[in-house]
Amino acid sequence: MKTFGILTGGGDAPGLNAVIRAIVRRSLPRGHRIVGIRHGWRGLMEMETVELDAAATTGILHRGGTILGTSRTNPYKKDDDARRVEANFKQLGLTALIAIGGEDTLGVAAKLSAAGFPVVGVPKTIDNDLAGTDTTFGFDTAVSIATEAIDRLHSTAESHDRVIVCEVMGRHAGWIALHAGMAGGADFILIPERPVDVAAVCAAIARRKERGVHFSIIVAAEGAMLPEGEVKKSADTDAFGHVKLGGIGERLAREIESRTGSETRSVQLGHVQRGGTPTAFDRWLGSRYGLLAADMAHEGAFGKMAAYRGGAFIPVPLAEAVASLKTVPDDLIDLASALFA
Ligand code: F6P
Repeated sequence: MKTFGILTGGGDAPGLNAVIRAIVRRSLPRGHRIVGIRHGWRGLMEMETVELDAAATTGILHRGGTILGTSRTNPYKKDDDARRVEANFKQLGLTALIAIGGEDTLGVAAKLSAAGFPVVGVPKTIDNDLAGTDTTFGFDTAVSIATEAIDRLHSTAESHDRVIVCEVMGRHAGWIALHAGMAGGADFILIPERPVDVAAVCAAIARRKERGVHFSIIVAAEGAMLPEGEVKKSADTDAFGHVKLGGIGERLAREIESRTGSETRSVQLGHVQRGGTPTAFDRWLGSRYGLLAADMAHEGAFGKMAAYRGGAFIPVPLAEAVASLKTVPDDLIDLASALFA
């Protein structure tokens, strides 16, 4: 019998429970024991655990969030915390730890792995900005939620001859903005990878008005850069040094209205994009990631991350996967602009 620990760290994402359910259901028939670690890395520091048996995974596939809870705890912020994680890892008698998370959580996992601990990573983020895998679970749900919102914004914008700026999540990469903007028929998409050119946005709005179309939908990623930089909610940073982004939609709306004379409103979708039931695709994708992670733990494929590459599910080196972020290449944003009306 082997004992696998599972933790979910960082921002929650729809599909997390599908991953947990798949790991448990793949591992129990093999005679393994599964220990759920609560609230991300904090649970390993504080020994907050829960036994995960078959009953624990009944009725969770369609639920958003994570039954284990999560946090943005960084055990490597203080030496003592890192030592507690390592000591508790041993005290729990873990054969392997399966860490489900984004750049921060998997960055900690890579450090633990480098220190000789048996760790398997599973990529998780609605931002879809993790290198090493084509698509992270949670992304499809976030894009679907944002697209439905953009559809709804079209009818009210058109009724009022207004411009509406829809701000979506995406801290370092504009994948949600690109996909939801294309799916929702945005007239302009702003992403962190390309500096915001307000004059170009206003010119596009003016061209539409000349053609008699007096409404426009602009989709902006929260991490898009104005000339003065990112728009932050506060100067505070989290345990991994990330600032709280938010507000670029309203900042742009005011600027657009003053430059074009069009009535302009803004909507910030925020955490709505992360909540609620996962799409069918994310339930399937999360289940596949969990099944591979369980096999990797069973076979001792440590220091690796379960990845979805070209339609296949394969282990990739964890250190490589966290070495860089996957951002939107220039050619894709140029291609998307061909669809702007
Ligand atoms: O990393 C995913 C994400 O949703 C980002 O898109 C967003 O900027 C961040 O998490 C928000 O973090 P929190 O939920 O801690 O406010």
